[in-house]
Amino acid sequence: MKKILVTGGAGFIGSNFVRMVLTEQPDCFIVNLDKLTYAGNLENLTGFLEHKNHKFIKGDICDGELIAKIIDEYKIDAIINFAAESHVDRSISEPKIFIDTNIAGTLTLLEAARDKKLERFIQISTDEVYGELGPDGMFTEQTPLSPNSPYSASKASADHLVRAFGHTWGIKYNITRCSNNYGEYQFPEKMIPLMINNALNDKDLPVYGDGLNVRDWLYVYDHCTAIWQVFEKAPSGEIYNIGGCNEKTNLEVIGLILNRLKKPQSLIKFVKDRLGHDRRYAIDATKIMNELGWKPSVIFEEGIVKTIDWYLQNQEWLQNVVSGDYQKYYESMYENR
Ligand code: NAD
Ligand code: TYD
Repeated sequence: MKKILVTGGAGFIGSNFVRMVLTEQPDCFIVNLDKLTYAGNLENLTGFLEHKNHKFIKGDICDGELIAKIIDEYKIDAIINFAAESHVDRSISEPKIFIDTNIAGTLTLLEAARDKKLERFIQISTDEVYGELGPDGMFTEQTPLSPNSPYSASKASADHLVRAFGHTWGIKYNITRCSNNYGEYQFPEKMIPLMINNALNDKDLPVYGDGLNVRDWLYVYDHCTAIWQVFEKAPSGEIYNIGGCNEKTNLEVIGLILNRLKKPQSLIKFVKDRLGHDRRYAIDATKIMNELGWKPSVIFEEGIVKTIDWYLQNQEWLQNVVSGDYQKYYESMYENR
């Protein structure tokens, strides 16, 4: 039985990963450590909290004593680090917490992995560490890091620390860098669920700038299968880009959402652009496809329909998420745009 410490497993991607592993990998025990920030939600784990191969612990990745205790008590073999502050707009308003969790928190986990001689440390990173692209080209694993937002700068710092711990102390690691994820259980501060939620409530859809920024959308389940392949097969020290080969402008995505929900395009409202807004991301995922045999299972046109339908069928989840603090966040982020 492999014993993995998954951090951030009550968030969007982490909870999808935990549910996938508990469903598909009977020989794996997961300790799920999550601070339950605004983005962490135990409802994302409904039906899995009591699973015999799952132990949820509320705690902070910056708490070194707690991490050491968990590793000893559960005889942890590996850490997969999803925990992070993950939203670019929030990093522009309040960068400090991004430094604390994304950099200092990763450092704390690395020290534990080194001291306890764990078999593997997997860092879930992002394509945003590479900066932005013009109209052509794609990010490869050789693209120099050139992060543009406080969020991506904090993730790039963490990537450098992971590599440095490998070089200096020989810890066994991998870094995965994926493009924008979409799918079930994504918090509606991110573009796709925010637009779905607003459209369902006949509210304006706030499109930053000219709406022609391009993102390379990856269905969250496909991201999770890629991480599992890395965990099972990858040699230590390798970095893998993960992408869905689904480049779309924001307006194309929003148009699809409005059509599916049978809402008018007139809901689109162009608002003030995000500061330093990256124009285009696109991932070259050839390495993980060729070396580990991974490929995405879902094309965007199918994945987006599954996602919209999931939000339609899970309006209670959405209501619980958007009540309370979300309202305050929404007002402060969008009132002056
Ligand atoms: P999310 O914001 O939905 O979830 C983050 C989770 O981490 C939450 O459950 C939160 O409670 C937890 N957390 C935050 N600070 C913590 C701390 N100090 N200690 C313990 N837990 C803490 O994020 P997500 O979209 O699921 O992203 C997961 C990872 O994937 C992140 O590392 C992110 O940088 C990376 N990533 C995300 C995307 C995307 O499109 N969402 C794309 C590329 C990379
Ligand atoms: P987001 O989901 O925040 O992901 P990221 O910035 O990490 O790529 O945003 C995706 C794209 O959607 C990005 O170009 C910004 C844009 N966007 C809007 O136009 N309006 C919004 O309200 C939000 C949240 C994002």
